[in-house]
Amino acid sequence: MITKLTIDKIMEATDIVEVIGEFVQLKKRGANYVGLSPFVNEKTPSFTVSPSKGIFKDFSSGKGGSAITFLMELEKFTYPEALKWLAKKYGIEIEETEESKENKEADSRRESLMVVSSYAAKFFQEAMWETEEGTNIGLSYFKERGFTPEIIKKFELGYSPDQWEAFTSAAIKAGYQPEFLEESGLSVKRDNGSMYDRYRGRVMFPIHSFTGRVIAFGGRTLKNDKNVPKYVNSPESEIYHKSNVLYGLYFAKKAIRDLDNCYLVEGYADVLSVFQAGIENVVASSGTSLTVEQIRLIGRLTKNITILYDGDAAGIKASLRGLDLILEEGLNVKVVLFPDGHDPDSYVRQVGSSAFKQYIDQNKKDFIIYKTSILLKDAGNDPIRKAEVIREVVESIAKIPDSIKASVFIKECSYQMQIEERVLLSELNKMRLSKAKKNGQQAERIEAYPEEPPFEEQAQLTKEVNNGLYQEREVVRLLLLYGSRMIDWDGIANTYIGPFVIAELSDVTFEDPTCKLFTDIYRQQVENGVLPDDQFFIHHENKAIVDIAVDMLTTKYTLSENWYEMHNIFVPDEQMNMRATVLGAIFHLKKQKVGEILEDLRKELQNSTNETDQEILMTRYMQLKKVEKHISDYLGSVILK
Ligand code: UTP
Ligand code: MN
Repeated sequence: MITKLTIDKIMEATDIVEVIGEFVQLKKRGANYVGLSPFVNEKTPSFTVSPSKGIFKDFSSGKGGSAITFLMELEKFTYPEALKWLAKKYGIEIEETEESKENKEADSRRESLMVVSSYAAKFFQEAMWETEEGTNIGLSYFKERGFTPEIIKKFELGYSPDQWEAFTSAAIKAGYQPEFLEESGLSVKRDNGSMYDRYRGRVMFPIHSFTGRVIAFGGRTLKNDKNVPKYVNSPESEIYHKSNVLYGLYFAKKAIRDLDNCYLVEGYADVLSVFQAGIENVVASSGTSLTVEQIRLIGRLTKNITILYDGDAAGIKASLRGLDLILEEGLNVKVVLFPDGHDPDSYVRQVGSSAFKQYIDQNKKDFIIYKTSILLKDAGNDPIRKAEVIREVVESIAKIPDSIKASVFIKECSYQMQIEERVLLSELNKMRLSKAKKNGQQAERIEAYPEEPPFEEQAQLTKEVNNGLYQEREVVRLLLLYGSRMIDWDGIANTYIGPFVIAELSDVTFEDPTCKLFTDIYRQQVENGVLPDDQFFIHHENKAIVDIAVDMLTTKYTLSENWYEMHNIFVPDEQMNMRATVLGAIFHLKKQKVGEILEDLRKELQNSTNETDQEILMTRYMQLKKVEKHISDYLGSVILK
C-alpha cells in the first residue's frame, strides 16, 4: 500500500490543469478552464476545470472529480495506478507500507518473469532485424504477408533462430535465472537438467498486458507441415493467464474508447492487418472462445463489440452460444461475416482499407437478429425445430440485463419469426423468472405495454422520494461547503459547522446510501479530531463519494463565483444567513424523517385490529405529532429571524 504521506505529497504537487492539459486542450475562462469533453464527442466545450477547487466537471457525460478520478476515467487506471502516474510526473518517490513476505515474494517473482519476457522480446527482435537468418527468413515472411516495417516494429514482432539453444544460452549468459526461463516457458528443461529453446525457427508475436508489458508469446511455424503445430504459445504462468488477456488490447485501447466500439477477430495476423489498415480498435481472442474476463476487459472501455468472423459456417454456429456471455455482461454485439474463404486479414489485404470499412458498415448485423436468421434457415419448415429456434433465441434475449433493450429485441424477432409478440414475451418472462429464482432475486416482468400509475399518483410519488433525498443531499452539501467554518451565533460559539451538524443529526438515519456513507465518513473523521475539507472528499478512494462531492461543488452557483453578477440574478445568499441555512437544513431533514415515521404509524394503525396495539400506536403517534409541530414552529422562527 502507498503510504498516506506519499499520497499527501502527490496531491499537494498535483496541478489539475497541468494534468488534464496533457489530454484535453484547455482554454482559460474566468477563474476556470474549459475544453471539449474527452469522454463524448461534442462541438461546444462543456468540460470545466476549476484549479482553485482541484476538480473537473464534464457536463456532457456527467463525470467529474479530481485529477486522480480523471486518470481513472480516461486511462482506466486503478486508484494506485493513477497515484503512481502522478508520482512519476512530479518526481515524487513512492513509499509503500511493508507488504507481507509472501506478497513481496510473489511480486518479485512476477517482476522477474516480466523482465525475462521483455528480454526475450528484444532478443527475438534483434535476431530478426540484425542477423542474416532473421532477415532472410523471419522478416521476409512478414513482408511477404504485407506487413509494413512500422507495424512489425510497433507490435515488436521477432524471430527465434532455428537452433536448439540460441535464446536459452544468450539469456543464461546475460544473467537470467533458469528458474524463470522455465516458468515463462521460453525454455524447456530436459531430463538431464539442461535446457533448450521452446520456439525454434518460428516468427514471434509478443503478447502484451493491458499496460504494455510483454507477458507471453505466440510463435508461428514457417513450415507447411501438417504434423507441426502452427502456433506454439506460452504456457500459463504467474504473469500470463490466457483467459484474462486479449491480443492487441494494449495498442487498441485508446481507439476502442475514442470510437466506442471494439472489433474482435480470431488471430494475431488479423489484428495486425486490420490495425495496419487504419482500424486500430481491434483485438483477438487468440483462437479460444471468449471468456467472461475478456469481455469485462473490453467492457471497461466500451459497451459495443463487433465480431469479425471468417466465412466458415461451421465455426460460426459453434460460437453462437458463446456469444450469449457477451449479452449477459450487458454489451451490445454485432457480427460481420466475410465472403467464403476469407478472414479479416485476407479480405482487407484483397480489397484495401476503405472498401474493408465500407464492407463492415454495410454488413454488420445485430447478433440476435443474425442468430435468428441462421437458425431459422436451418430449421426450414419443420415445426418442432422451429419451436427450438424460438426457445434458443428467447434464451439469448433473456440474457440481456436491460429490460427495455430486451423488449425491443422481442418485437424485432417476433416480426422476423412471424410469431406473436405476446407469445415470445411470456416465454421470456418465464425464463427471467426462473433465472431470478435461481439467483434468489426478484424478476422484473416485462410487459408489452407497461401500465403506468395514474399521473397524479406518479407525481406524488416522485415528490416524496425526491424530497427526502433532497434534504439528505442538502446536509451533505452544507458539510462540504461550510463544514470547516466557525460558528458564532447567539448561544452557540467556539465550534465548527461540520461537527455541530453531525452532532445534531446523530439521531437521524440517512436513507440514501451515498449520503449515509458520506456522513459516516465525516463523523469518523471528526471523532479522530480531523475536520475533513472538500479536498478530502474529492480525493477519496470511493467513487460514489467523489461523485457526490463534485456534484455538490459544481452546481452553477458554486463553480463560478461571479455567476450571479454575470446573469444579473438576485439570489438570497445563503452565506449571508448561515444560521438559517444550517439550522434550516438540519430541521427540515428531521421533519422529513418524523413525517416518514408518522406515515408508517398511520398505515400500521389502519391495519391493526388489536386494541392494545392500537392504543400504543396512537400514543406514539400523538407524541411524534407534537415533535413535528415543535420542529415546524422552530423552523418558522429560525427562518424568520
Ligand atoms: P488462425 O489459424 O486463424 O491463425 O488461428 P492466424 O493468426 O490467422 O494465422 P495465419 O493467418 O495462418 O498466419 C487463429 C488463432 O488461433 C490461435 C492463434 O492465436 C491464432 O492467431 N492458434 C491457432 C493457436 O494458438 N494454435 C494453433 O495451432 C492455431
Ligand atoms: Mn489467418
